Amino acid sequence: MDKEISRMFDNRSAEYDKNIETLRNDKFVSRYIEIYFRMIDAIVNHIDSNKETIVLDIGTGTGRLAFEIAGKVKRVIGIDISEKMLEAAKNNSIKSGIKNIDFRSGSFLQPGDFKKQFDVIVSNLALHHLTDEEKLIAAQNMRDLLKNNGKLIIGDVMFFFNPKINFVKWWLMKKHIKKFAGRVLKKQIFDLRKEHATHVKNLKTIFEKSGFHVVGIKKIFPIAGIVFAQKSD
Ligand SMILES: C[S@@+](CC[C@H](N)C(=O)[O-])C[C@H]1O[C@@H](n2cnc3c(N)ncnc32)[C@H](O)[C@@H]1O
Repeated sequence: MDKEISRMFDNRSAEYDKNIETLRNDKFVSRYIEIYFRMIDAIVNHIDSNKETIVLDIGTGTGRLAFEIAGKVKRVIGIDISEKMLEAAKNNSIKSGIKNIDFRSGSFLQPGDFKKQFDVIVSNLALHHLTDEEKLIAAQNMRDLLKNNGKLIIGDVMFFFNPKINFVKWWLMKKHIKKFAGRVLKKQIFDLRKEHATHVKNLKTIFEKSGFHVVGIKKIFPIAGIVFAQKSD
């Protein structure tokens, strides 16, 4: 599965940043792409400025979130399973002149050898690529990667309604996403069956089972939000 996803993002990497800008400037789609920027802002605003803080960004992609955080902290490590997204992130790094970010290969399931090293772990729009069983392993890995009292901030696709009960709402929403995103991302078919976004209550349970205390949940959109959690003792 990881291979399929990394291939998908390898193929999107060259256009990823450009597509976001194009969508942002499209009068029909901009209000949806603003959700993405609101998610990034909500994550960044929750990180205190502190030159001692070390942050891990999982599923960093082309690094947009990592770049936003870098000015507030000592160091950011961005990991991803797509080598080409990482390549784009490294190119962005050169262009920006920001020097306190390392982009490396790694995943939720195999993050690398960094035990208890991080003050904060963030992720945006990546965890839903994992099944619920994998999310549980990922949450346990993230717990092991955090220092005591470390913070976890996960922005992602997550349901604030039940798509099985409220299936008309969900069907309309999918239709809407395909229609508007399709205006720009013509070749990129959204196959939501291959994604594993879950209900926010389920996500909360997964983190609590893995040794986190969920301190807050921010709804950004009916299918997008941020979970704020703290590593429990
Ligand atoms: C939609 S992009 C989001 C990128 C970036 N976080 C952002 O906000 O622009 C999802 C990213 O997650 C990565 N990804 C997917 N599954 C992953 C996994 N299991 N571990 C780490 N990264 C993963 C993809 O390669 C891709 O770069």
